[in-house]
Amino acid sequence: MTKAVSKQLLPVYDKPLIYYPISVLMLSGIREVLIISTPRDLPAYRDLLGDGGRLGMRFSYAEQKEPKGLAEAFIIGESFIGGDNVCLVLGDNFFYGQGLTKILQKASQISSGAIVFGCYVKNPSAFGVVEFADDGKVLSIEEKPKEPKSNYAVPGLYFYDNHVIEIAKHVKPSHRGEVEITSVNNAYLAEGKLRVELFGRGLAWLDTGSCKGLLEASNFVEAVQSRQGCYIACLEEIAYKSGFIDRDGLLRCEKELRNTDYGRYLLETASEKQ
Ligand code: G1P
Repeated sequence: MTKAVSKQLLPVYDKPLIYYPISVLMLSGIREVLIISTPRDLPAYRDLLGDGGRLGMRFSYAEQKEPKGLAEAFIIGESFIGGDNVCLVLGDNFFYGQGLTKILQKASQISSGAIVFGCYVKNPSAFGVVEFADDGKVLSIEEKPKEPKSNYAVPGLYFYDNHVIEIAKHVKPSHRGEVEITSVNNAYLAEGKLRVELFGRGLAWLDTGSCKGLLEASNFVEAVQSRQGCYIACLEEIAYKSGFIDRDGLLRCEKELRNTDYGRYLLETASEKQ
C-alpha cells in the first residue's frame, strides 16, 4: 500500500489550496495521508479536514517544528509509513491535465526505487533541475542552480519505495541546513534507482508558493471551471467517483454545504448517472 505525506492553507479560487495536492493523492488511489505542517498551521488543517472519514480517507497530522527540509517528512512520518511505499506531495503544488490520473496511478504502483517527474519551464533556476546526457539519460538533479543544465524542473510530487526513510536519515543537510529532497533523489540516482518521467505540454504544473503564483492558479481554476462546469480538485467528487464513498456519503457532504455553489455542484454530481 502506498501512503502519503503532505503541507498550506490559503484559497485558490473557490477552495483551500491544500485541496489540490490532496486531490492528486486521491487520484493516485492513496487513502491514508499524513499532513505535516508548522505547529502554527497544523490545527487549522485539522479543523478543515478532520479525520477524513467523510471522504472515505484517513488523515493524520504531524508537526515539523522547524523548517529543516522537505525530506524530513520521511523521518517525521517514519511510523506512519511503516513498511509501505510512500508518495510526497508539496502543499503548494498544483497539477492539472488530461492523462494525469493514469500517470499517478502508474507511479503509485512503484515496486522499488523512486519516480519523480520533469516539467519544462521557462525559469528552472527556482526549482530542482534535471541534467540529461545527449542520449536522454539523467545525469544529476541540481537544487536551484544559478546556471541550470536544462529547462526541466522537478515538481513537488515524488514516489518512493520504503528505503526513502533510511536515505532521508543519512542525507547530509545542505549549506542552508536542510535535508533536501533533491539530495534524496540524487541518492536514488547514484544507486541507479531513480526514474524521471517527463510531463507533456498538456499537463499544467503550477507552483503557488508566491502571491503571484496563487493568483495565476486561481485564474486558471476559475477559467477552466467556468467554461467546463467541472470542478478541479473537488475532493467529495473524487471520493465518490473513486468509490471511496457512496451516493449517501456524497449527499451527507452536500448537506453541510447546502446553498453554496460548491454544494450545488455536489448535488449535480450525485444526480449524474454513474
Ligand atoms: C522545492 C524543492 C524543489 C522543487 C520545488 C517544486 O522547492 O526543493 O526541488 O523543484 O519544491 O515546487 P521550494 O518550493 O521548497 O523552494
